[in-house]
Parts: sequence; structure tokens; C-alpha cells
Amino acid sequence: MTWKTLDDFHLNEKRVLVRVDLNVPFVDDQITDATRIERIIPTIRDICASGGIPILLSHLGRPRRQRNPDLSLKKLIPSLETLLSTPITFVADCRGPAVLGTVNASKGGTILLLENTRFYAGEESNDLEFAAELSRIGDIYCNDAFACSHRSHASIDAITRFLPSCAGRLLQSELCALEASLASPKRPLTVIVGGSKISTKFGILSNLIGHTDYLVVGGGMANTILAAQGLSIGASISEPTFIENAKHLLKRAGRTGCNIILPSDIIVACELSAHSRTKTLPVGNCPHNAMILDFGPESIDRIHAVLESTQTLIWNGPLGAFEIDSFATATIAIAQRAAALTRSGQLLSVAGGGDTIAALRKAGVTEHISYLSTAGGAFLEWLEGKPLPGIVALTRKS
Ligand code: 3PG
Repeated sequence: MTWKTLDDFHLNEKRVLVRVDLNVPFVDDQITDATRIERIIPTIRDICASGGIPILLSHLGRPRRQRNPDLSLKKLIPSLETLLSTPITFVADCRGPAVLGTVNASKGGTILLLENTRFYAGEESNDLEFAAELSRIGDIYCNDAFACSHRSHASIDAITRFLPSCAGRLLQSELCALEASLASPKRPLTVIVGGSKISTKFGILSNLIGHTDYLVVGGGMANTILAAQGLSIGASISEPTFIENAKHLLKRAGRTGCNIILPSDIIVACELSAHSRTKTLPVGNCPHNAMILDFGPESIDRIHAVLESTQTLIWNGPLGAFEIDSFATATIAIAQRAAALTRSGQLLSVAGGGDTIAALRKAGVTEHISYLSTAGGAFLEWLEGKPLPGIVALTRKS
């Protein structure tokens, strides 16, 4: 690996500007999922233990370059203080003399949280001047926000031009897990990709075909591929404008030896509702007024058989309409099998994306997946094989 870590620096009395992702979900000002906060604690603790001063930088939401009290990071203070069992100093700005004054008056072990970087125009435009202003607050820059590293923003990218830079503990663990799963996986490698629209994940499927041994495609995306094979999909969601792309995809898979796994039997219903009557049918027999909403039992058995021989699994996106119990069977059964194989040491499993984590939670197996990525968009771009500006910036600096 070509980036530095916190271990490459003497941190005593050093001001460490740490870019974290505190973009957590709120309902009525209550945090509904604190995972992203919990996962940055090791970095903060390690800096404090070495006598450094962690200065946390983050965005929250999309304030469009305006100050917005609803998106102030001050709201994160109680949760951070509880998790760290120590007081945190909040500074209502993220650059300028007042911030510099507070930072310079702080002793090693003090933790500071600065205001939302996206309140400033220079953040999203990756402005060098803004990045230079941020850099005056720190001696070392630490990126601990894999989930934001697909953004070419000043606090992720341009800032690395002004300070010695490194990866934090969370970023290190994300990169190691991702490296072990896609860049140099133990084979066979199986990837499960679900989701409603093939248009949004076409780049991912194209990239994976060159890398993976088995590619399980689920959700509405699978319907477009089934239609490309000339099979009836009834009233299921699909994207007819992508049928030609799907045909190319199938041809490329044949050439590269990637086994694309689609349902061979399907669960159908006339409505996407908890009360609709469901039927199990062979694929291709979907009635004109019904929708394919999950994989059937025979398809689940086929995927289980693939998992038995798989050494590495990457999962993004549920197989069926898992929010409704009657269409969650395949996703839950496969999640539970993947978790059991992971527990027994047979499988390295990596999952990412909001829907995927929600599905694994519903299956009760989040503890038994080898690695859950905190990222949404960044995980997708990584699956697509795109270079992530935040990671490229760290490599360049090293
Ligand atoms: C995320 O929630 O995926 C990250 O915080 C990035 O947020 P963004 O999509 O608003 O850039």
C-alpha cells in the first residue's frame, strides 16, 4: 500500500486535521444510526493516546454553500461525547483566526469538532485557497472518510497538497477489506449486485464481469437482463432502453468466463404489498399483469451451492423487494448462509450500501459478515473500478 498511516508520524502536541464522515441519518434531531460515529473512535483515541490534538472536519447533508443551523455539526457533540466519554470542543467555523486561536490554545488530548465544511463555497469546488485556509489549522492531515473519498472536495483532495497526509484507522480497514475482496481475492469470487435500475449500476456490472467468477444479479436489474434473453417479465420494473446493453453484457460474460446467475424460478404478485397473493413460477412464465418480486426456492438453492465453493463474497443490493417480508425470503436466506460460512472461516464477506446493510440487519447477521463498509456512493464507485479522488490524493502525497 502506498499511503501513509498515523504510525508514520510523531503525533505528540501535533494538530491532526481529521476528515471524518459525520453525515449520519437524523429523525427529529435524533441520530437513527450512529455506525459512522462509532467507526471513527479508534482514530481519535489513537491520536489522543499519542499526545496529538484531533481536529474533526466533516460535512453534514447538502447545505448548498449556505449556513444552515439544521445542518450544524454541533448536533453531533452529545453523541461523540458519549462514545468517547470526554468533552469535545465545538468551533462554529472551520477556518479563520478564531478557529486558529482555539486550536492553538488546545493541549494534546483535546478533541475539537469544526463546523460543516459544506457551508463554504470552496469545499465542493475543491478550491485551493479554501484548502490552504483549512491547512493552517493543522500540522498533519488524516483522511478517515472512505465514504466521502469519491468526492473531489477541498477537505478530501486539495488539502493533501498543503499538509503531510495519511489514512486514519477506518480508512485503513476499509481499504484493506476492499483490497482483499476485489483487487487480490481468494477465488472463487462471487459478487451479488441487486437494485432496481440497471442504468445506475451498469458500470458496476461491466467492471465486475472482468474480475469475478460468479455474478448474481437481483432486483429490478435482473428483469432487464431476463427481457434481453427474450423471457417474459410481465409487468415487472425494467428498463427497455438498456436491453441492448444487457445483451452485450451477457456476451462479454460468456467470453470472459464469468457465470451470471439470474433467477431460474421467481416469486410473483400483482401488487407490491404485504397483502398481495404470491405465486412461485419458473422464470419466463410471469403473467402479463404480475411482477417478479423475489427469487424462488430453486434459485436460492443454486446460490447456496455457489456460496459453498466461494472463498470471497462482495454484496451490494438486495435480491428482492426485501422491505416487504413476503419478498425478503431470498435475501434473508442468502445472507444467513453467507454469515454461517463466514463464521466457520470458509468465506471472506464484504458488504456495502445502505439497502444492503438494512437487509443484513433484517436477516440478523450484521455481526457475522467479515466487513461492512460505511460507504454508500464511494462503495459503488469503487465497485465500478473508478479511482477515488481522496485515495488518489493520499497516494500522490506519499
Ligand atoms: C455519504 O453519505 O455517502 C457521504 O457522506 C457522501 O455524501 P454526499 O453524497 O452528499 O457527497
